[in-house]
Amino acid sequence: MNKSRRDGFGSKFGVFAAVVGSAVGLGNIWRFPYVTGENGGGAFLLIYFISVIIIGIPVVLSEFIIGRRGQGNSYGSFKRLSPKTYWYLVGLMGIFAAFIILAFYSTIAGWTLEYIYLSVKNIFSTTTAGISNPETVFNEFHTSTVMPVVWQLVSILLTAFIIIGGVQKGIEKYSKILMPLLFLILVILAIKAITLPGSIDGLKFLLYPDFSKINSNVVLDALGQAAFSLSIGMGVLITYGSYIKKDNNLLKTALAVSVTDMGIAVLAGIAIFPALFAFGLSPQEGAGLVFIVLPEIFQQMFGGQILSLLFFILLAIAAITSSISLLEVIVAYFSEEFKIKRYIATIIGATISAVLGVFATISFGAWKNVKLFGKTIFDNFDFLATNILLPLGSFFILIFLGWSFDVKQTKDEITNQGKLKSWFFPVFLFIIRFVAPLAIFLVFLKRLAII
Ligand code: PHE
Repeated sequence: MNKSRRDGFGSKFGVFAAVVGSAVGLGNIWRFPYVTGENGGGAFLLIYFISVIIIGIPVVLSEFIIGRRGQGNSYGSFKRLSPKTYWYLVGLMGIFAAFIILAFYSTIAGWTLEYIYLSVKNIFSTTTAGISNPETVFNEFHTSTVMPVVWQLVSILLTAFIIIGGVQKGIEKYSKILMPLLFLILVILAIKAITLPGSIDGLKFLLYPDFSKINSNVVLDALGQAAFSLSIGMGVLITYGSYIKKDNNLLKTALAVSVTDMGIAVLAGIAIFPALFAFGLSPQEGAGLVFIVLPEIFQQMFGGQILSLLFFILLAIAAITSSISLLEVIVAYFSEEFKIKRYIATIIGATISAVLGVFATISFGAWKNVKLFGKTIFDNFDFLATNILLPLGSFFILIFLGWSFDVKQTKDEITNQGKLKSWFFPVFLFIIRFVAPLAIFLVFLKRLAII
């Protein structure tokens, strides 16, 4: 490889696959269904959509702009674009968020690997002697110490393995294979779900908005979910943006990625809710939803073993392609700012994340009584990252680009130095200056019960 040039994405599809790989993850398939279930279904979906459109897409584009202009990791890009200011703190906050998210993310990624193993063993099948109860299986497994930690470490190792390969020969290469596969599996599962008798109630729950369910918590949850699902507010898209070639249309990429991410969440909802309702189960199972309720469904279905295997492979793929983007934020920062080799940066980043991650994992079992603000370590990590750091990071990214950074350079990035049409630019500027930051600000105020 040419040493003087930064590694980067090779093709347009590669950019799309890698960014979608980051965005589409446990957030869409594990988190979205249960958060939607807990918040009443359709009304939540609607607010989540609105959050994606007025906040999410503008932040995706803003991060791409900062990264491609700044040509660095999330800290280095701010340093380069705005030297002698404190904006780099936003980048550092993102790196901190990457550690926190990777810690609790790898817990669930580990669970998905155990469930692939359980599906292979056909443990949820009615034909094996003595049918196992999925709830007991889940509770015994996720509250124990050894296996959840082992699987968590395996997931971090897999992530590190891909990251060591580099941007083009690691991230891009694997995303290009894994994302189409994920899509295919999800479509098969969704078709199966809607052909079940009684599935219509599930679709109604997902799609029919009941506005009496909406309050300030629901709105903050929807905003948090939108931010988490799009991987915004913490530098993944700044880092990936720095690998995007100059002739790529950033606006198009931002739109394509955001629409795909929403579409996949809805598709996951379509795969899960109809089946749930068809079998008379409750959508409010919390974090265990896909690990308890789905095996219960698979158990009663023709072809259940294959479907359950497909589903957990899907979940594992989604988890790994997102984990790599989290680790990349950390590795790009370490390797560029401390001038160390990529594999050394990977080992350091993965080790710190693994240590933090173990705390998140055992907070379901051995440490379940260790609580801060009435929440377990896992829940604190999730809440801190999803509902605080990501919206706050998004807010500062918008303020930076809208108010502090040179408008002409922003326009250059959107129009590729004037080669693309620019009618959209004033709209974008208005949104990132006023609409999006104000929306985030109001959601926070409301949540803190100030208004
Ligand atoms: N977007 C990922 C998901 O939906 C999670 C993620 C958040 C990844 C932030 C990177 C950064 O699962």
